[in-house]
Formats: sequence, structure tokens, C-alpha cells
Amino acid sequence: MNQTFRPGAAVRGTLTPPPDKSLSHRAALLGAMSSVPVEVTNYLDAADTRSSLDAVCALGALVDRRGDHMVIRGPGLRAATPGAAIDVGNAGTLLRLLPGWLAGQEGGRWTLDGDASIRRRPVDRVAAPLARMGAQLDARDGRFTPLTVTGRRLHGIEYELPVASAQIKSCLLLAGLLADGATTIVEPEPSRDHTERLLARAGAGIARDGDRITVTSQDELELDAIHVPGDPSSAAFHVAAAVLVPGSRLVVEGMAANWTRVGFFRILERMGAVVIGDLEERAGAAADREPLCELDVAHGPLVGTRVTADEVPLAIDELPLVALLGCFAEGETVVEGAQELRVKESDRIATVVDGLRGLGADIEATEDGFAVRGTGALRGGTIQAHGDHRLAMLGAVAGLASREGVEVVGMEAAAVSYPGFTADLAALTS
Ligand code: S3P
Repeated sequence: MNQTFRPGAAVRGTLTPPPDKSLSHRAALLGAMSSVPVEVTNYLDAADTRSSLDAVCALGALVDRRGDHMVIRGPGLRAATPGAAIDVGNAGTLLRLLPGWLAGQEGGRWTLDGDASIRRRPVDRVAAPLARMGAQLDARDGRFTPLTVTGRRLHGIEYELPVASAQIKSCLLLAGLLADGATTIVEPEPSRDHTERLLARAGAGIARDGDRITVTSQDELELDAIHVPGDPSSAAFHVAAAVLVPGSRLVVEGMAANWTRVGFFRILERMGAVVIGDLEERAGAAADREPLCELDVAHGPLVGTRVTADEVPLAIDELPLVALLGCFAEGETVVEGAQELRVKESDRIATVVDGLRGLGADIEATEDGFAVRGTGALRGGTIQAHGDHRLAMLGAVAGLASREGVEVVGMEAAAVSYPGFTADLAALTS
């Protein structure tokens, strides 16, 4: 589906972002791993997170969903139904986390596969450390789906992550729950910590010491109710539109304020945008809960900035928006240390650089990111979504901020994380 986004209309009003995708995936998986029924409210209803619910159902969970309220009755930590073929759809998070749960369940065998984008996304990043724990995983060409997981007895290891990835970290923490002894993961940089918070709440033996996270073998998990907060990665699109279009003023309510997720808003502040809100996690707030915040954002001038490797995991999914903002900022905006963008739903260094250049941006790709020279404006034109939800939404925001408007080819991709995106944007610009 092609859709054109015209310039001019200011973004005004209040947005409650859709429920967080990362937390919804984890609520489904950890809900199914729990030995008691888990109540989940505000679960994301989108293609990616429906894949997670379908997966846990195939593995023996019963999901009772009534509107905004859901109860997951899982098979528990060690009793997933053997033999299922799991279709992860477009969901990279499901593809990376699920093998961690399955690999330690002796006597089971499962196959994971997904769409064309998933078939290009590497699984060796989880298969290699899981194999060191004693797991048996067989991937196409050793790297890609279909991936077959054969359950085996696992043992704990110490593993230094080669890249700061919450998906790899979470996979190994889940495997560590079923492994003999202790499993320690060392992070090169902090990445989102939702899995750690949920495991602590579920009574797992999990402890952090600086950059080391250790989890020990568990007989069972008991998770209490989960309320999924608003997704900062989805809110970021409307926030960027508000910053770029003159006359805009946007309030965002009920958004996750977990410090490992709000790096984009800190980058925005550094670029000179007016972001009023409490991005600090409140002192004394329980470290195993997900804090919420409210933001107030207005249009204003921007200056270029340099995003360094340590900031990248905290803003990984919002970096395409940093490129767009850079087009309008004074001076140069550089993102470095972001080679992980090459293995997202598309090669986001290539697709963002080619896409924005096609709209008139002065941007070039580097090996590990991009550099944009701000010109204060963007001409507009046509951008391909390449089946990547965040690229589709980037194109829409670019259209609002451009001189001539932007036609997005493949706008339907937005439904992977944010089915109501165009409706919310229309409501805020009407
Ligand atoms: C996610 C982690 C990130 C992010 C992805 C969701 C998660 O991936 O890009 O959209 O829910 O753990 P990496 O951890 O592989 O960087």
C-alpha cells in the first residue's frame, strides 16, 4: 500500500503510545514460563506480538484474551509442548529469545522460521553461546532460519557478549534458568533490561554486578500481573514530527521511562529540542518495575550531534529518526558504533541512507553508522519501506516535515509494531 504524507500540518494534542513491543514479547514468553497464571494488561495488538502469542499457544499455553485484559496459563518453565513448528513472522525478538527457553528442555524438538526478512537475520549470535552451554541448534548455513532446536541438558557458562544486544542477553538468561549451575553474561555496554526486571519479579535468582549479570538454575517461575507501558520507540515518531513541524506541541502520556529505552529523547535534548518531562527513573522506585513518564515536546531549532557507541543500544531502534532530524539540524550529525543496524528488519544503514538521500538529504553511510549534513529542509519524493515498519513510519514523518510531501511505498509494514500509526498521526495533525 502506498500512502502520501503532505507537509504543513502541525502536530498538536496528546498521545498515548501503543503498548511496548519489547515488554509485550517478554510478557508472552515469561507468562508462559510461569507456573501460575499471569494477568497481562495493555498487551500490544500488532503483528509481531501476535506471533509471540501464537508461539506460546503452540508450546502449550492457554491465552484468554478479553479486550485489554489477558490471562496466560503456561506450560511452565520445563514443560513446553514438544514438536511444534513455530512461525515467528517478522519478529526478531521472538526468534532470538525463544531458543533460550527451548534449548534446555530435554526430549523436545522445535523448528523456528519466519518471513523473508527473518530469513536474512542471523541466529548464530544466539546459537553459538547456546552450543557452549550444551545446546543442539541446527541452522541453515549455520546462521539462518529454519532453525531447529533439540532440547538437551544445559550447563551454565560465563559469556562476554560480542555486541551489546538485549536479544542475545535475554536468550542466554532464559537458557540459564534451565541450565545446571550459574550463567554469567558480560555486557560491553548496557542494553534494555526488561528481561532482568521481569525475572527478578518472578523470583528467579538473578543479580547484577557492574557489567556482569548472573542467573541460576530455577525449578519454577512465579510472575505476578504485568501492565505494559507505552512504547518509547513508537512515541518517538510523533515526537520527531512535533519537533520538526512549526507550530507543533505534543504531550506524550504513559510512556515507559526505563533509562535503557529513552536514549533517543536524551539525544533530542542535546540537539536542542524542548523535551519537558521526567526522564530520570525516580529515586527509590523498585528496580524490578517499569517506570512511566509524561513528556511535553515543542517545535524548535536543532543543532547537529555525535551519537557514540555507548549510546547506540539505548536508542537503537530510533537511530533512523536521528538521521531525519539531522537533515534539519545546524551542522553535522554523526552516528557511530551502530553496525548492528545492518542486521535489523532491513539493513537500516543502507535503507535509511538511500531512502533519505532519495528525498533530498545530504547523508552518507559509514561502516558503522551515517553522517548527515543539515540543510534545514528536505525536498520530499518517494521512499520504499522495504517491509521494515520503522522505515515506513520514518517516511511518513519525513513527509510532514518536507517541502513537497513523501509517498511511502509499503506503508502496511507499520502494522508490525504500530497498527494505529497513521490514524494517530492523522488525529494529531487534523
Ligand atoms: C529488542 C532489542 C533490540 C531492538 C529490537 C528489540 C528487544 O535488538 O533493536 O527491536 O526486545 O530485546 P538487539 O538487542 O539485538 O540490538
